[in-house]
Amino acid sequence: MRRAISITVLSALAGLAQAQNANHFDCSNFLQFGADINKTRTAFAQSPETMAWNWFACLNQPSTAQSSNLVWETMKPSDQVYLPNGAPPGTYDSSAPLPAAVVTQAKAQGMNLSRAFHNLNATQQVDGLILQMGGAVPDAQQGNPVRFQLLMGKDTFDYIVKNQVYNMNGQAALANDLHFPPTAWELKAAWLWIGTDTTYQQTLVNDGYYIAQAYYQQDGKYQVGYAALSGLHVVNKLDSSWVWTTFENINNSKYTVTNAAPATPMTNTTGPTPAAKPVNASFQASNPTLSKYELIGVEFQPITQVLANSQLESAFQNTSSCLACHSTAAYSNDDGYFNFALNKGGGIVYPTAPLPASDFDGYKKLDFVWSLKRAQWQR
Ligand code: HEC
Repeated sequence: MRRAISITVLSALAGLAQAQNANHFDCSNFLQFGADINKTRTAFAQSPETMAWNWFACLNQPSTAQSSNLVWETMKPSDQVYLPNGAPPGTYDSSAPLPAAVVTQAKAQGMNLSRAFHNLNATQQVDGLILQMGGAVPDAQQGNPVRFQLLMGKDTFDYIVKNQVYNMNGQAALANDLHFPPTAWELKAAWLWIGTDTTYQQTLVNDGYYIAQAYYQQDGKYQVGYAALSGLHVVNKLDSSWVWTTFENINNSKYTVTNAAPATPMTNTTGPTPAAKPVNASFQASNPTLSKYELIGVEFQPITQVLANSQLESAFQNTSSCLACHSTAAYSNDDGYFNFALNKGGGIVYPTAPLPASDFDGYKKLDFVWSLKRAQWQR
């Protein structure tokens, strides 16, 4: 009897130790990888999935004690970096004022103007297609697209400004390849549009979605309302080929559909990977606000591996390798951006292993950062 109790106590303690591990990661200065980047590299090598979750948890904490914006929500959105006229961007911390029409609608809807409003300005995935909402979404949202947004950390932003590659002129003038610093971070977020439907919003809250204020422009008119975070790519340059991590809500297949006829629920066919599964269980248990999000996997070595987010690489999951596709980010003054769509057997596939260096003769490599394609000519 005595022995049985101590085993129970021991296993309870072991569980606690694991949960504390998950919680006790030091988030202060995590975007700089703490005081010693090599310690982070060692911990990452031991369990890339655990480190990915630690970063995800830190990114989803309130940015300051006074603010209810999350850390990642204070990062710089790409629309404030690659300006339509190619002009230099403002400073990292100076967020551009919301369009007046957004403020008017937000006030009328009783929204909180001291909190973030996300500009969900993209609907096209990298294959040029959209991901449709369907299934359990209200009639008004059936067939409408999931919306996307790109964000970057300060060291990514500073590097882009220093090298003046926020416009095409700067990219054309480059004499060398780009090399972002190890502390560069980039995010790509996917959102289910809710608008002002409070019943639908509550359904998504019950399914563990993070809800934020958002807007987008369509046909010259601003739509203002709420949106639910369905997927998040988180990448940084801890490794020279970057570290590729991706998270999504476990209920996404209820709300998004394939473009098959008839449409079927959109699922993830690439993960969670076997290594991600136990780490998901542990972090979901110790992070109540993130308990319905899962890590699909981590990519960090130039090997053949397929990894996708059902919300972001929806229709081409079986030919999606984050690292391989992003390693083709390159610009040539004569030929423009490198074309990563490869013709194979009469269809289009994407690279699942890095292409030979000779494919990039005459190109300047953009260090995996494909969002540089959003840059405009200065005018
Ligand atoms: C077939 C090519 C391709 C694949 C596969 C791919 N991406 Fe991307 N990714 C892109 C392109 C192109 C952009 C720029 C999109 C835009 O500007 O809207 C991008 C944008 C991003 C961004 C925003 C910052 C940046 O680097 O431009 C992140 C972060 C990102 N992808 C992460 C990932 C992750 C993580 C995966 C794998 C789970 C992945 N990508 C798979 C092509 C790809």
